[in-house]
Amino acid sequence: MTRAISLHDVSKTYTRGVRVVDRLSLDITPGEFLVLLGPSGCGKSTVLRMIAGLEDITEGRLLLDGEYANDRVPSERDIAMVFQNFALYPNMTSRGNIGFPLRIETPGQDPSPRVDATARMLGIEDILDRFPGQLSGGERQRVAMGRAIARHPSAFLMDEPLSNLDAKLRNHLRAEITSLTRELGVTTVYVTHDQAEAMSLGDRVAVLRGGVLQQVGTPRSVYGLPRNVFVAAFIGTPRINLLRGLVRAPLDGAMTISLGKQYLRLPEPLSLDHQLLRVQQGREIIVGLRSEAVRLAKPSAARPGEVAISGLVEHVEFQGHEVLVHFNTGSSPALVPDLEAPRPAAAQARRRHRESGSVLGRFRERAGALRAGPVVVLDEPAEPVLASARPDSRLPGDLVVRTTPDIDLRRGMQVPLLVDIAHLFVFDQHGERICPAPARLPDLDG
Ligand SMILES: Nc1ncnc2c1ncn2[C@@H]1O[C@H](COP(=O)(O)OP(=O)(O)O)[C@@H](O)[C@H]1O
Ligand SMILES: [Mg+2]
Repeated sequence: MTRAISLHDVSKTYTRGVRVVDRLSLDITPGEFLVLLGPSGCGKSTVLRMIAGLEDITEGRLLLDGEYANDRVPSERDIAMVFQNFALYPNMTSRGNIGFPLRIETPGQDPSPRVDATARMLGIEDILDRFPGQLSGGERQRVAMGRAIARHPSAFLMDEPLSNLDAKLRNHLRAEITSLTRELGVTTVYVTHDQAEAMSLGDRVAVLRGGVLQQVGTPRSVYGLPRNVFVAAFIGTPRINLLRGLVRAPLDGAMTISLGKQYLRLPEPLSLDHQLLRVQQGREIIVGLRSEAVRLAKPSAARPGEVAISGLVEHVEFQGHEVLVHFNTGSSPALVPDLEAPRPAAAQARRRHRESGSVLGRFRERAGALRAGPVVVLDEPAEPVLASARPDSRLPGDLVVRTTPDIDLRRGMQVPLLVDIAHLFVFDQHGERICPAPARLPDLDG
């Protein structure tokens, strides 16, 4: 039996009135795979433990299949939980571990048929007689999953079940979990701090920050229409570019967003969504540009809806199938509280920047780059937008753009860029989205 799980204004307070989960409401439908995503400490495990009955609910209501369940003990909830640290009994074989909950629930009944069926499903028949100490991490996690599955529970709760495994195994088991839970059709709530994992696994993703639900929706909609800068920045790699901007309407009437030393002139007529910008005139906003919203091309190559800016290459990150280019466009990045860690590449670039030494050194570097036959420095010499900025006063790069590896870019090149206005997010000073990227996301669930 699959099961509906509903949380109505659920809060949790451990000590001194600090709410670690704050009025969380979620309706998880039978058979759904819902991922709870958020940074460490945002309350994900607490939510799972309240659903499982391992933690009291301070305020609010938990409904299981529509019935009030706050007071039910864990064994009456018919929910199986899989933990990050596997939690196997070391003195029992895999067979003993998988069969253990069955022996508790139905004493006197032989658990072997169910254990064998589960082991077949997980492909672990050959390790049933081994002890946890004789198993690899991946095998142990399969046994832990087997213990949850063998019970035929009406829901699974999984708390970062893959985070102790190496990357390769994690990807492999991720695919297995997807096919297994689809096959079983059992409602699953899966906790992770890894946005890529959340996006690849979830029917829907619920993003938590500081115990507060930020947004819940399909992976496509939380990526495509993030409700605020936190969600926008938490989901997607490389992280979305968030730049401080100012809305202006010059004399000739075209809406313009100035970004530090450059500006984006929005093509007329404004899209319905960008018309919302009119009420923001004169205000500071935050512009969000995903790395795929900007491409390297001359202004003359602009398609309708694209506007030209220019960027100075600060750092090039080779990734094999693609290249991430860190540009300095003279704008200031908007910082998102709670997403403290700077981009490692940006930190690297900053260090390299410090080390890059004298103006002459930089000049040589640039000249060297030019001699080496730049492919993208274009025939019309771009204006050096940042000529007036002293090298050491500049930020290491405010705009990351994704490009193909065949383009040979070097630090110090000034490159023309085209911004696709249809993919321009605009957020207010509080980080709430004002304008979505409206054009190309047909199936959004809001
Ligand atoms: N038993 C507890 N007593 C007091 N505070 C706790 C307890 N368990 C968790 N917390 C606090 O609640 C917050 C949320 O924790 P948790 O749900 O484990 O977050 P996550 O799983 O998202 O990392 C954290 O600030 C944590 O320190
Ligand atoms: Mg946790």
